[in-house]
Amino acid sequence: MFSELEPRPADPILGLSVKFKADTNPNKIDLGAGIYKDEAGHTPVLACVKAAEKHRFENETSKAYINSAGSALFNEKITALNFGDHKVVRENRVRTISAPGGTGALRIAGEFIRSCNPAASIWVSNPTWANHQGVFSAAGLQVKTYPYYDYENKCLDFTGMLTALKQVPAGDAVLLHACCHNPSGMDLDQEQWQQLAELARDIGFLPVIDMAYQGFASGLDEDAYGLRLMADTVEEMILCSSCSKNFGLYRERIGACSVIGASAASADIISSALLPVVRVNYSMPPAHGAAIVETILSSAELTSQWHIELKEMRDRIGSMRQLLVDTLVANGVTRDFSFITAQQGMFSFLGISKEQVQRLQDEFGIYMVNSSRISLAAIAPGNVDYLAQSIAKVL
Ligand code: LMR
Repeated sequence: MFSELEPRPADPILGLSVKFKADTNPNKIDLGAGIYKDEAGHTPVLACVKAAEKHRFENETSKAYINSAGSALFNEKITALNFGDHKVVRENRVRTISAPGGTGALRIAGEFIRSCNPAASIWVSNPTWANHQGVFSAAGLQVKTYPYYDYENKCLDFTGMLTALKQVPAGDAVLLHACCHNPSGMDLDQEQWQQLAELARDIGFLPVIDMAYQGFASGLDEDAYGLRLMADTVEEMILCSSCSKNFGLYRERIGACSVIGASAASADIISSALLPVVRVNYSMPPAHGAAIVETILSSAELTSQWHIELKEMRDRIGSMRQLLVDTLVANGVTRDFSFITAQQGMFSFLGISKEQVQRLQDEFGIYMVNSSRISLAAIAPGNVDYLAQSIAKVL
């Protein structure tokens, strides 16, 4: 069976980390995977997470199975964090399950959509996170794209996006990034969210919102503006959220899939149809990450500590945007990179060629995704000069 296998290329994002580790260049910089790093280049365990783990270690009494929806307390807390005091919560129209990371939530969402409408396509932005297409194809959905980023002018192509989405048939799904668009860093403004919400309502396509970076653009509530507006406007919607970045729980694999129904009764039916999708995939989600998050969100003290740590991460990444632009100028780069400061979250495209990306890797030990997506979260005062000098050399 296996002798017929052909080797497959490494994952475009995760494969970079493997190459980076093997690189012996002492100045190397990993701008590949979206992982927060402090000024020393370290991805810390948040202090609030350490405290919650200590609490769990001391208080956990059983490792018995839970169920396919995961921890009820986590589901309640994450729904409140994502939606706030929203009418869909008050009307009991949301059903949330814990999932193995944001990716697990997306996969469950994809399979659930397919089970509801086997003919459905899902429309994703061009560009989008490199794994979206694979996850949804593996879930059995057809994947189509809509324009999103104007590479030439380095801004949002909202007209192109709206024009394409007007053609989406009722019953298809449209994936939107709640904030910190991955990979472009270009987000929708409030007026654009309004137009999209009205379009979704009028056409009857299903909005599927991916929120992997709540708290990394402007703040926890600010970053949820679009999804809450969408939930105000449409009757049915799916939210896939992740605790990887904002709680720094990357390897614990904890996220959530929230499905909104038109009524509480419909939400109960949704729940009964969602749980079997989980059961045949992985039966039930892992518990540790959920326990950490629910402990933090159940404690006023740990929650305020988390808010401080999250703000520190957000502010550090934000300040690296300006620092990179300034340092490029200081190193004689005349090309305008100021668009980087208009973008949000972990990523931006540098807008350089594949050859230049490869040269940065081969000659300078600087790793980024082929598309020239960089993770701003890996830039620090200690490496920005080397980075800017290297970019200047390949330009
Ligand atoms: C990224 O886009 O770099 C992150 O979401 C990590 C991943 O799993 O790809």
